[in-house]
This record gives sequence, structure tokens and C-alpha cells, in this order.
Amino acid sequence: MRWFAVDKRRLPWRTEPPAAPDPYRVWLSEIMLQQTTVPHARPYFEAFARRWPTVEALAAAPEEEVMAAWAGLGYYARARNLVGCARKVAREHGGRFPDTEEALRKLPGIGRYTAAAIAAIAFGRRAVVVDSNVERVVSRLFAMETPLPASRDEIYRLADRLTPAHGAGDFAQAMMDLGSAICTPRSPDCPRCPLRAHCLAFATGAPETYPRKTAKKARPRREGTAYWLEHDGHVLLVRRPEKGLLGGMLALPEAAPAEADWAEAGAVDHVFTHFALTMRLLCADAPTRDEGIWWPVERIEEAGLPTLFAKLARRGRERRSGLALPVRENA
Ligand code: ADE
Repeated sequence: MRWFAVDKRRLPWRTEPPAAPDPYRVWLSEIMLQQTTVPHARPYFEAFARRWPTVEALAAAPEEEVMAAWAGLGYYARARNLVGCARKVAREHGGRFPDTEEALRKLPGIGRYTAAAIAAIAFGRRAVVVDSNVERVVSRLFAMETPLPASRDEIYRLADRLTPAHGAGDFAQAMMDLGSAICTPRSPDCPRCPLRAHCLAFATGAPETYPRKTAKKARPRREGTAYWLEHDGHVLLVRRPEKGLLGGMLALPEAAPAEADWAEAGAVDHVFTHFALTMRLLCADAPTRDEGIWWPVERIEEAGLPTLFAKLARRGRERRSGLALPVRENA
């Protein structure tokens, strides 16, 4: 806690006493930070907090606008739950987030981790907050030989024992900052670590070998095709079904939307959690513009395409300017 008081990161959702934390900003940051690093999430947090400064403002926003603003953060179910949660808080809780883990967990998109983080950070409650940083720090402190994920319950019990009665929010964020700045996955900076004297993994001489992990299955590789159909400076987009990969997001069609003289425009690679994808792009000009979502090509960045399709769109657009392109763009 003394280390945190001096070395903590200054982040836009954090406040210094006597200012009280804003539960809306704490919640928004915690949702964005699920599966996403602080540097990647930070500009999104700032953009969202500027555009929708309160939970009521976010609750009133059209879902498609929020989905588009989320583009590039990934795990798009989070964006839909974000709107669902904001609306529930605005309508059923008078615009105030509930202040217990139990009540927070009843809201869309809030599970065990996020409920604990909000209860501790925004409301000063004692809650056990365990994210992957905390898992790493705790498994090193105790030199746990049981590999993740089997060790999760034991890590939770140990984190519970360490969590103080007062200041659980600062404690949690101290563990996260320590995990991010010093107790890093591959090369922990033990000489700078305030916990070194207590750390059993440090004592083994090979702290970086913790946490032990069960061997992961290799990611399968899949292939697909996307279609860039253009007419008069506009490209045809589709909205993906709500359920499934990139649900509810705008995208390029993955089935030929017209009979045309399709030309190869290369391929892009993209890595999802459960598989790696190589998607090739076929391009054609349409003689007419039928119904559908036709987006101005020059403003394609504003469509809010998820990263895979944003990469493909760069290819589709550059093809027209006749630029020579490498055959592949990596994730
Ligand atoms: N990761 C998730 N929540 C965080 C927080 N509040 N501070 C720093 N890193 C985090």
C-alpha cells in the first residue's frame, strides 16, 4: 500500500482523496479493462467519458452508436451489455449503481471480478478482487505449484487472506499496478519489488516460471472470404446477427452479395481468442446500388468496423488507389 501511494499509475478513472470515485467511471473502466490492456483501453475510456459523461447519458444512447464507438476494443458482447447495464441502472436504480457485490452481479455484464472491483474501488467495501495480474502476483508470492486454471480457487482464498478490512480498493489496484509495472509475466523486476522479501518465487531464483500453467491447446486456423462491393464511392456493409462472433457489429459480407467479376485483393490475418483467421478479400464494382447499408468509402473509419474488417477495408480502399500492397497484413 505504501508502494502504491507513491508509484501508482495516474489513470483517468482514478481519483485522489478527498474526491470520491465516480461509480459510473469505475464501472466503465472495469468493463473496458476486461480482456484489454490499460494502454489500449485508455483512449476509449476518455472518448466514452467525454461523449457520455453520466450513466443516464449512456442509457439514452442508441445501441448502434455505442457499438460503433466500441469498435477496436473487441469482445463486443461487452458493448451490448454496457448499454443494457446503463439502462437498467438508469431506470431501475434511479441512475445510481448499487453498492454491494450481490446487487452489482445482477446487472448485465457484471460477474464476480467486476462486482468485486466496483464494490471495492467505487464504494470502499471489502471485496476480493482477482484479475490475471493478481493471480500472477499471488501465485508468485506463495510459489504455487498447482498450475492455472486449477489453482484459481486457492488463489482466491489466498487473496482473501491478504485483502485488508479497509482500503480493499487501493489494495486491489496496488496488486494490479504491481503486476503491470514490476511483477510482469516474462521478466519481473524483482530488485524494485516491495514484496521481494516475502516472495517465495523470488526465493526459488526463477520467479518468471510462476504461475505454472497447464499446456494450452493450439489455436485452430480457419479461412474465410469477405466481399468488397462498391458502387459510386460507397461500399456494401451488413450488420451481423446479434448472436455469435462480432455479434451486432457492422461488417463486410461473407457471402457473395452479387454476381460480379470478383477480383482478389489479398488477405489479412487476425487472431481471435479461440481461433486464428486468414480472410481473403474479393472486390468488385456493382452496376447498381440495391437495398442494404452502403457506406461512403472515404469515411469508412467512421463505420465502427471491428478490427478484422477495418483491416480488410483498408485493403479494399487502397486497391482503388492502385497502391501495390503486400499480399498479407498481420494482426
Ligand atoms: N485492470 C483492471 N482494473 C484496473 C484498475 N482499476 N487499475 C489498473 N488496472 C486495472
